[in-house]
Amino acid sequence: MGDEVRIVEVGPRDGLQNEKTPVSVAARITFIEALLDAGLHTIEVGAFVSPKAIPQMVGSDEVLRRVGSRADGEFHVLVPNEKGYEAARAAGATVIAVFGSASEGFSRANINCSVAESIERFKPVIARARADGVKVRGYISCVLGCPYDGEVKPQAVVDVAKVLWDLGCYEVSLGDTIGVGTPKKARELVRAVAGYVPMASLAMHFHDTYGQALANLYAGLEEGARVIDSAAGGLGGCPYAPGATGNVATEDVVYMLEGLGVATGVDMARLVQATNEISRLIGRPPLSRVAAAWNAKKRAANRE
Ligand code: HMG
Ligand code: MG
Repeated sequence: MGDEVRIVEVGPRDGLQNEKTPVSVAARITFIEALLDAGLHTIEVGAFVSPKAIPQMVGSDEVLRRVGSRADGEFHVLVPNEKGYEAARAAGATVIAVFGSASEGFSRANINCSVAESIERFKPVIARARADGVKVRGYISCVLGCPYDGEVKPQAVVDVAKVLWDLGCYEVSLGDTIGVGTPKKARELVRAVAGYVPMASLAMHFHDTYGQALANLYAGLEEGARVIDSAAGGLGGCPYAPGATGNVATEDVVYMLEGLGVATGVDMARLVQATNEISRLIGRPPLSRVAAAWNAKKRAANRE
């Protein structure tokens, strides 16, 4: 692979937004600090969305205020509308992410409007952010399939990607929200979107429901994409994407990249420690295969 790959750690947001067990603001801050200490730099730390829709993200202002002072990180937060933008700015956000969809069904379920209406909502948010010197990332969900509408055509993704890019997003993240993609489709999608959004500005955000996320990422890397969204421990999911499991695990991504000769700067021992601690708090073992192997090896060594 050779060149650099950037990891966007989404565990504190995507990872925790769907968890039934409440995780306190203090524990979320500790988790983010542990991820920074493990060498992750770009971290999505919260969401300024309706507390009725996603109660798990209440307190994102406090989280951002606390971790935002650390100079060794870049902190992202989700913002769906101007109300969210104002709250995010008041908490010191310097990077926000708007989130749309390639499919109508998910757009309606997730943010209560059509795809076209969502773009109209994003326009003033992006304009204000640009005027304030705030960077804007643009997510597109359901790029490889929708839980409500089924198949999603690459052109539908390209159409939304073009709009987000033209409005001024610095990066477009392609979300396989329900983790149904396979490498051929992932490759074709990356190629299609890269016909408009520069490859360097494309991120791959793949959930792992069908166990294809790493393979899909590898296909995208071969195509030239260099930004990967992942969540420590394979945490993640969206309440509006029924049946979907977590994001690809950061540990598994790091292990694959290092094996490909791509230095990540991540300390695996510290990352697994951060994952173990958050897994303990939410009461279930990590989905990451690498974390599971690492923990098993450690237990075996302790028995010797
Ligand atoms: P709406 O009902 O159309 O909005 O929701 P509204 O403007 O009519 O407001 C309704 C209520 O929400 C009002 O409160 C507003 O004040 C409040 P009420 O008068 O009923 O008490 N409200 C807000 N409160 C706090 N912050 C805000 C805000 N906006 C309105 N920003 C809305 C529209 C988008 C707000 C709502 O549907 C929502 O918050 N949805 C959350 C969706 C979400 O966070 N989903 C998970 C993240 S997306 C994801 O996981 C996919 C991704 O990972 C990529 C992938 O995997 O594909 C990114
Ligand atoms: Mg997601």
